Amino acid sequence: MDLKEQLVGLKSEIDSELDKQLRYDNDFPPRIREALRYSVLNGGKRLRPILAITAGEMYGVEKSKLIPVAVALEYIQSFTLVHDDLPCMDDALLRRGKPALHREFNEALATLAGDAYLNMAYGVIAREGVKRFSAESVLRVIDELSDALGVDGVLGGQVLDLDPSRNASDLEGITRLHQMKTASFFCASLRMGAILAKAPDNELEKLTSYAMEFGLAFQITDDILDETSTVEELGKDVGHDAEIKRANYVSAYTLKGARTQAQQAVDRAKDALIGLPKTDFLKKLADYLIERRK
Ligand code: IPE
Ligand code: IPE
Ligand code: MG
Ligand code: MG
Ligand code: MG
Repeated sequence: MDLKEQLVGLKSEIDSELDKQLRYDNDFPPRIREALRYSVLNGGKRLRPILAITAGEMYGVEKSKLIPVAVALEYIQSFTLVHDDLPCMDDALLRRGKPALHREFNEALATLAGDAYLNMAYGVIAREGVKRFSAESVLRVIDELSDALGVDGVLGGQVLDLDPSRNASDLEGITRLHQMKTASFFCASLRMGAILAKAPDNELEKLTSYAMEFGLAFQITDDILDETSTVEELGKDVGHDAEIKRANYVSAYTLKGARTQAQQAVDRAKDALIGLPKTDFLKKLADYLIERRK
């Protein structure tokens, strides 16, 4: 089976679990439940749960045991995207080919839906996690996720990203920002699966290096696609970063230089896997980051 088929299969299993978890016995208050289904069930590559599942499987845990917990990462993903799209942040019109949540509903509901997703994520990990894994591993995962999403991770990265006084050619600063806003969450996702599966610490270190480089390459490609793709293909606003002169790899290195930087990060990601068992899928996934069109 090639990578694309594997990704389609995994995505469909993740989507089914999300749909199942989001079927409510009652719909009171109604609008928020509709909003929660609207964003999270509307496509998405599902890369973060896929990373968690892959790491868990590398250390012998079955996919079916990981999926109910790993979908929490998609609640978190929706939380970050819904808030990222708000007028006070990136002011996006589109997400995954449809109007952003605040445009389909309204800003207040989008803010509250983001809060709800984050809250649900920790609940799902705690509830579904302890049914399947040791309480100690589950607590460690929750602790790591809260770090990855906080001021030293995604949240801090978003604060830096929105700072208009950032220097467009400060490469060190831009790299750090990408590591915080994007790579830290990919890293916590891969580590989630490995920790639940009780991977040895020295192997966890290698997975961490892989995921940080993976996340950097992912965000560089996102910045490239913002510049080169179309609304139809990407399903989200394009050209916005350049329009508001946002400092990123494209502004700092030009498109060609950014592509080279992404390739180098992918190469470093694959190198980090040397010595680990069953890494074919992770290697293919790293290569896919360069080729992806959405
Ligand atoms: C978008 O992430 C946010 C960034 C970190 C650039 P994805 O490109 O993984 O978004 P979905 O979940 O597939 O829509
Ligand atoms: C956002 O980066 C990363 C998050 C933490 C959500 P972007 O603002 O570039 O993501 P897109 O392009 O809107 O998906
Ligand atoms: Mg943003
Ligand atoms: Mg954005
Ligand atoms: Mg972007």
